[in-house]
Amino acid sequence: MDDRFNTAAGWTLFAGIVALGLSSISGKYFGADKVHRPHEMGYAIAGVEAEGGKASGPSLNTLLAGSDVAKGEKVFAKCMSCHSINSGGANGIGPNLFGVVGKPIGKHAAGFAYSGDLAGHGGDWTFENLNHWLTSPRAFAAGTKMTFAGLSDAADRANLIAYLNSQGSNLPLPAADAPAAEGGAAAAPTVDSLVASADPVKGEKSFAKCTSCHSVTQGGANGIGPNLYGVLGESIGAGRGGFAFSDALAKHGGKWDFTSMDAWLTSPRAFASGTKMTFAGLSDPVERANVIAYLNKQGSNLPVAAAAAPAAK
Ligand code: HEC
Ligand code: HEC
Repeated sequence: MDDRFNTAAGWTLFAGIVALGLSSISGKYFGADKVHRPHEMGYAIAGVEAEGGKASGPSLNTLLAGSDVAKGEKVFAKCMSCHSINSGGANGIGPNLFGVVGKPIGKHAAGFAYSGDLAGHGGDWTFENLNHWLTSPRAFAAGTKMTFAGLSDAADRANLIAYLNSQGSNLPLPAADAPAAEGGAAAAPTVDSLVASADPVKGEKSFAKCTSCHSVTQGGANGIGPNLYGVLGESIGAGRGGFAFSDALAKHGGKWDFTSMDAWLTSPRAFASGTKMTFAGLSDPVERANVIAYLNKQGSNLPVAAAAAPAAK
């Protein structure tokens, strides 16, 4: 437990350092004001930071409670080629965002032609929904017109959401969550605990979404995607009977464990920019855990952590 915590803390620190470096680099890029830049940088940043692992960082509430609106405004530079955010500002490639926080999804900006998927999504732009949307627009609304890969850094997203909120919405920010040790039930279940209580039979059913491109039997052929037998525990984007991986995945580094697999299946493109896997991702954490549990039974059999405290279910 302690070791795991230290590792997670180390990665978090590392991710912070990487983010710090990137924010100064990205500042230079965005100064150039090229219309296509934000899109591409979104991919690049997502790819790099995914290496830091998504482990179990602070919750959205905790991040929002400690968020920095000024930093969020800097992150918003990535959005400005498509969005205005001043009161009464014009719609551009994307809708004007003044006061969008708390409003119904895909309906807010008068006269903007939303995609059917976003307009039909339902619900409001809560902090939670914005966090999912900004992680991966396509995982949130598959046919969205917003061609932006997503922001993989949770603190960037929280700062950005706080900035959006300060532009015409001003909803009260949530209080920080109590530390897991004290609050227990408040913490979202971790990937490991979800996998521990996952249902591989349901996972096999969901895997139907993958079989057009992947075999998973021992010695099965590579198709559009590589054979996946025994993939958990193996190096990311390597081996697999000589499958021609994209550079993005081949150079990713690290191994497929439950956490990296969960991040990959949430949004392949946010995990490895330029991946060849043209699959939007699975937005439901339970479905991902079921698929991971199923994959794990196909030749890997990595040890599964004991299920978390009953409260987490
Ligand atoms: C390449 C252009 C582009 C970029 C860059 C972009 N967006 Fe968008 N955005 C769009 C489009 C287009 C839509 C409408 C999506 C649809 O209808 O499916 C949209 C929709 C949205 C919505 C939903 C608004 C509503 O009224 O429901 C939000 C919120 C949003 N974007 C925030 C952002 C933020 C924050 C960023 C920067 C991190 C960003 N966008 C970057 C083009 C972009
Ligand atoms: C449209 C085809 C397609 C679909 C659908 C698809 N994949 Fe993939 N998958 C690929 C391709 C292509 C790659 C190689 C990606 C690269 O090199 O960037 C890949 C790579 C992978 C890898 C990495 C393998 C390795 O050795 O590093 C895993 C794991 C994976 N896919 C799992 C899945 C799962 C699980 C699903 C279903 C939820 C799925 N894929 C759906 C095409 C697909």
